[in-house]
Amino acid sequence: MNTNKKRILTGDRPTGPLHLGHYVGTLKNRVRLQDEYDCFFIIADLHTLTTASNFEKTSGLNDRAIDLVLDYLSVGIDPAKSVIYQQSRVPEVTYLSSIFSNLVTVPRALRVPTLKDVMRDLKIEQPSLGLLNYPVLQAADILMVKANLVPVGKDQESHVEVTREIARDFNKGFAEIFPVPEAMIGEGGTLVGTDGQAKMSKSIGNCIYLSDDEETVNKKVKGMYTDPTRLKPTDPGHIEGNPVFIYHDAFNDNLAEVADLKDRYVKGQVGDVEVKTKLALALNKFLTPIREKRAMYEGKTDLLNQIIEEGSKKAQAEAAKTLDEVLKAMGIR
Ligand code: TRP
Repeated sequence: MNTNKKRILTGDRPTGPLHLGHYVGTLKNRVRLQDEYDCFFIIADLHTLTTASNFEKTSGLNDRAIDLVLDYLSVGIDPAKSVIYQQSRVPEVTYLSSIFSNLVTVPRALRVPTLKDVMRDLKIEQPSLGLLNYPVLQAADILMVKANLVPVGKDQESHVEVTREIARDFNKGFAEIFPVPEAMIGEGGTLVGTDGQAKMSKSIGNCIYLSDDEETVNKKVKGMYTDPTRLKPTDPGHIEGNPVFIYHDAFNDNLAEVADLKDRYVKGQVGDVEVKTKLALALNKFLTPIREKRAMYEGKTDLLNQIIEEGSKKAQAEAAKTLDEVLKAMGIR
């Protein structure tokens, strides 16, 4: 690692394939920043334990971690430049998390908005200590490498805020050892689902995955929600909030085509079929290089395992260094 560069740490829980929403929300930023920063990409399997209390939910984790590595590699995260690692292979992070948990009050943890969302979505009546501690464990991920920047989706902003508070409180109470990291939110914001709902979400089933093949993309686009007030192609259509045009704006690099479609749509001079056919073509063009990279690694389990193991060793070395510094700052060592 080049220690003169500033650092990035970000990543995902291995809960399933990544989709276009992940791409615009954070993956695009990650790939772009690889040369400028020392990057650490975490596969946060320990975080999934906060809502998994039986074997059925935990036993597939390693396979899903490998799938996530494949998604990362496919979009251009490069293991020669960046560290891709598995959280559960770095036990130091839980040690740091337990030290940091003493700097966060229970009411503060209860105020983190994602907690309420998770409890509502999963119908959890009372949070476990682990779930309450979720942002603290995430702070340990970020601070163990002394990251400066955390490229995440909007939904993770509140966790970075907790991290900032912990860094400040530790620096104030013990010694100035942590940079106070910044969240970096993708410009694309939160991408709507194919059904027009506020966001792409695996549980709703309104996603286009980075791993979808051409035919699947064509089918999903054909079934997309558009302007419900428009019954015939000659009716003037609405562009604002229309997922088909939101996707055109996000993924179609032919700006003149998009402008022309919009122009004709509001005038009632183009049918949904043309708008969608062109969108499917644009999406498949966008996904082509991603599919090509995926094909280079797909099925090469040994190689993928090696990438995770080597990355985890590098991350662990950083974590061990930071933990040592923390213990010294606290006067325990
Ligand atoms: N909580 C993040 C998510 O669900 C995943 C994550 C774990 C993470 N540790 C992190 C993201 C550290 C950024 C930094 O998406």
